[in-house]
Amino acid sequence: MLFAERYASRARSRPPILHGAAVEIEYPLSMRIGSTWYRTIWLADDGRSVDVIDQRALPFSFEIMRLTTVEQAAYAISEMVVRGAPLIGATAAYGVCLALQKDPLHGSLDRALELLAETRPTAVNLRWALEVMEEAVRFLPPDERVAAAYQRAARICDDDVAISKSIGEYGLAIFRDLTAAKGAAPLNILTHCNAGWLATVDWGTALAPIYMAHDEGIEVHVWVDETRPRNQGASLTAYELGAHGVPHSVIVDNCGGHLMQHGMVDVCIVGTDRTTAAGDVANKIGTYLKALAARDNGVPFYVALPQTTIDWQARDGVAEIPIEERDPREVRFIGGLGPDGRVVEIELTPPSSPATNYAFDVTPARLVTGLITDRGVCEASLEGLLSLFPEWEAEVAERGAE
Ligand code: MRU
Repeated sequence: MLFAERYASRARSRPPILHGAAVEIEYPLSMRIGSTWYRTIWLADDGRSVDVIDQRALPFSFEIMRLTTVEQAAYAISEMVVRGAPLIGATAAYGVCLALQKDPLHGSLDRALELLAETRPTAVNLRWALEVMEEAVRFLPPDERVAAAYQRAARICDDDVAISKSIGEYGLAIFRDLTAAKGAAPLNILTHCNAGWLATVDWGTALAPIYMAHDEGIEVHVWVDETRPRNQGASLTAYELGAHGVPHSVIVDNCGGHLMQHGMVDVCIVGTDRTTAAGDVANKIGTYLKALAARDNGVPFYVALPQTTIDWQARDGVAEIPIEERDPREVRFIGGLGPDGRVVEIELTPPSSPATNYAFDVTPARLVTGLITDRGVCEASLEGLLSLFPEWEAEVAERGAE
């Protein structure tokens, strides 16, 4: 049985990714560390191994990890060396390449798909990327599979960059309008977790329009939720924004409601790991509470997403999206830079207190002002999504008839 048959309700060829408006950006990549432009994942000089930025070391040191086996790729995803829905998908794609490189036969492909699929449950990009990779190699002769796999993985990465740029451009139009309507600077934007270039191959989703707005001279200021327990906001979003020169302030996760009550947030923008066909979004734990506060205070709440995070088989996010539960240790301990300049971990809770660690929550479509996709902006609803992605109508109708 094909991987796609086991993990999807039916095996069908996915419609190809078609890009929205072409976006011309002056420079090829958004992330520069020192004098070097980086993507978050790239093929090493040997043409086989895969290099990624070890995000666990940020913001205190910039380290690159080399992946040479599918097991290492699976480790990198589950231990959050790499994270963020699009980058999880891209890493899984290269994980399949590494497995086939070692052994191109079907048993090896099946084991790789199985292993990688188990790494993180919420981001649907993972399943999407594995299905795409399977489709690219399954029916080829063994001696053609490796080259085809590397080609397909590279295309997943290139597509992701184009998708993120397009999201950025559509989001930028919204920020321009909000700035004009406000008539004063800065535009105060609140974001949760990290949906920047570190979460994608480049640019990011929720942060892409922020970078573009800043680059074209719109005065923005970003409220960065720290995002306990992994602190992706405090460590990664703040790092990215700082590197790009975007004014920002890190706030504790519980601060957003207060800021919104006092008119200090003009717009919220977040990413998503899985978007249902009805427009519900699963994102980092705490996103739902920000959406509630935004609704209560009349603050627009946008979700930026690549089409690869849409799960066309799911409708009701709360009932249907699997929510990852991670090691309670992540709640009980916190890491940071010690006085001697070394990263240390300290315990926060009584050692005997149990902890629970849900990694994501679901924000229902009714709380979302709009979905900013790579094809344009739409209402968070089935009709809204189908207006941008009409090629999925048949799949959705079939699901409705079940
Ligand atoms: O647990 P993480 O760090 O992988 O969670 C990431 C998020 O919640 C992001 O907002 C989401 O993946 C969108 S990334 C473009």
